[in-house]
Amino acid sequence: REPLWLGYDTTPLDGFREVGLEDLSWFQHMTVFGTTGKGKSTMLNIFMNQIARKGYGFVFIDPKGDTVDDLITQLPDHRMDDIVWIEPGSEDFEQVAGINFLDPGATETQKEFDREVESIIDDLRAVLRGGEYWGPKMEGITMNIARAMISSRRQFTLVDMYYVLADNESRMKFANVVSQEGMDFIHEYTTKIAEMDEEEIDPVLRRIQDWVEDPISRGIVAHRKGTINISDAVEEGKIILVRNTLRSEEIRKVVSTGIMRRVWATIRKREKMEEADREPFFAIMDEFDDIASENMSLDKMLSKARSGKMSVTTCLQNPSQLREFAPQTLKQLFGNVNTMFSFGVKEAEDARLIAKRFDDD
Ligand SMILES: Nc1ncnc2c1ncn2[C@@H]1O[C@H](COP(=O)(O)OP(=O)(O)O)[C@@H](O)[C@H]1O
Ligand SMILES: [Mg+2]
Repeated sequence: REPLWLGYDTTPLDGFREVGLEDLSWFQHMTVFGTTGKGKSTMLNIFMNQIARKGYGFVFIDPKGDTVDDLITQLPDHRMDDIVWIEPGSEDFEQVAGINFLDPGATETQKEFDREVESIIDDLRAVLRGGEYWGPKMEGITMNIARAMISSRRQFTLVDMYYVLADNESRMKFANVVSQEGMDFIHEYTTKIAEMDEEEIDPVLRRIQDWVEDPISRGIVAHRKGTINISDAVEEGKIILVRNTLRSEEIRKVVSTGIMRRVWATIRKREKMEEADREPFFAIMDEFDDIASENMSLDKMLSKARSGKMSVTTCLQNPSQLREFAPQTLKQLFGNVNTMFSFGVKEAEDARLIAKRFDDD
């Protein structure tokens, strides 16, 4: 395959030289550093235009919105029908990223199902932990109810969780559903939760309330069936553009993580596919500092993406800040990404971090 061209270089020795990313390097990922205004997004734009022109699919998550707005005016005509536009909270577009946190999706084996349940529980835990105080007892209540809801034959959402927890009677009713469906492994817990008094449940309710009462977050997390099938879009080689400019940082992270988790789940299933049928797919995240969360399971994604033919590109302004709030994510990024670019950075600490990483190679 032809490389993806990134720019050119002139040296006294070689003269003019085009710089490209060879296909062998695609699936060993790329990271671009640089402070605002240095040209990161412009470089991503060029990169994505080439991916599009080669006919591949990709997902692009843009927390600022400017890059995706530019990109859409430049993509070739023959790819226009492949575009899936996701803009949560937008008044102009009805497309929202419908994410039902409690939907395990299609799984084939019990083992796969269990793995999916645990990964949803991890997601949910990370979402609810953010912000206010979140103690082990609250976590115990939420995670057990969630496990029962995900495992149930019925389709529950986070909004249902709110109403189930809201009073004694509905908690009891839910414990009965669990028992009727024969979910013995969890029935004891749900009965115990049903018998708790309001004082114990209230903090959990208040936390979920934040999600359920805000119209934007409710629109995102409350879909019984996701409105966009990301899995199909990935396998059909679509161009998934996510204009993720919501005001709440927490929700921005949840949207990014939710989408990436689904992309990743699709790529993971490629194990069963003939190698020749695995079409390259690219995931590109601008302003990754803004959407990074320890919860994205970045290490699994990056280390196993090669066999699934997924290439991940991230843009970062302040790696040293990422080290503060998501140390694992930075480690995983540094450990699994083989191609790194750096434009100028602002903080000396960023320069040191990047220089050290370059030195390791
Ligand atoms: N290689 C380049 N040559 C000239 N101008 C550039 C180049 N790359 C970017 N620019 C300009 O610099 C400005 C900032 O670029 P941008 O890609 O938005 O930076 P960043 O994403 O790092 O904040 C834009 O006006 C862009 O047109
Ligand atoms: Mg930018």
